[in-house]
Amino acid sequence: MIEVAAYAKVNLGLRVGSAAPDGYHPVWGIFQSIDLSDRLVLAAADEDSITGPHGGEIPAGLDNLAWQAVRAVRHHAGVTSALAVTLEKQIPVAAGLGGGSADAAAALIAAGRLLGVDRDELTGLAPALGSDVPFCIVGGTARVSGHGEVVTTLDALDGFSLAVVVPPIELATPAVFRRWDELDEPTGLDIPGRDLPPALREEAPLRNDLYPAAAAIAPVIDDWRADLAAAWGRPVLMSGSGPSLYGFFVDKEEATAAVAGIPPGARCAEGIDLMSVGWRVVD
Ligand code: C5P
Repeated sequence: MIEVAAYAKVNLGLRVGSAAPDGYHPVWGIFQSIDLSDRLVLAAADEDSITGPHGGEIPAGLDNLAWQAVRAVRHHAGVTSALAVTLEKQIPVAAGLGGGSADAAAALIAAGRLLGVDRDELTGLAPALGSDVPFCIVGGTARVSGHGEVVTTLDALDGFSLAVVVPPIELATPAVFRRWDELDEPTGLDIPGRDLPPALREEAPLRNDLYPAAAAIAPVIDDWRADLAAAWGRPVLMSGSGPSLYGFFVDKEEATAAVAGIPPGARCAEGIDLMSVGWRVVD
């Protein structure tokens, strides 16, 4: 049996280019693991299963990305033995925080350890599972390009924490990219260096090009963004294809205080530290 913590990510800016013939869009951005995690337990079993911690159902069942990852490793290892996944979700789904991808990366690691598949081979299996899985296997702070498969580790960022607020809607990534095409490839709002933590100023301006598309699908996102920006007195960025929003604060205490007064109804509102890893084997 092996247990792995799977950490969420935020996009510290996300630039998007025109879709390639295969439908995927080139992206550029800094991806950052954050201290918000799911727990995945993988064990030998009599039959294949994926359940919540108390036998509860998991979205998509055996089509869940974490289970697909286990299946990919098992196929690669050339074994057929049954396996059981237990997945304890804490990362909000369909939120732009990479929860499904983090679970898949943790599942690759867990299955790799259990079935004797090494890290390089697991890295090779990651892109086919989803665009964010290659980053989640590396974790920490990284520059990401291609459609997510080009991952270059950067020095850890420090000197700030994030206040993360997930508005009460779910967004499907394909729909957001589709709307971005229909809107004629808009760009997000630039956040200038003076509004960024010192560690990120070299990357200025930061912006998320998917923001106009997400806000066109769900205009309530822009209400949340404007309200948070006014309450916090600083710009607010969206992570990934949304709807997660976040602001920069000097430490977790300030970030936690910043979410204390926000209106009720958010799916998640927390002060969250950065993480230097994307997953961790739990002893
Ligand atoms: O790779 P993943 O399964 O996470 O992507 C989901 C969908 O999001 C893709 O099918 C595609 O429509 C869109 N996408 C994209 N460009 C990317 C990543 C995702 O168009 N770089």
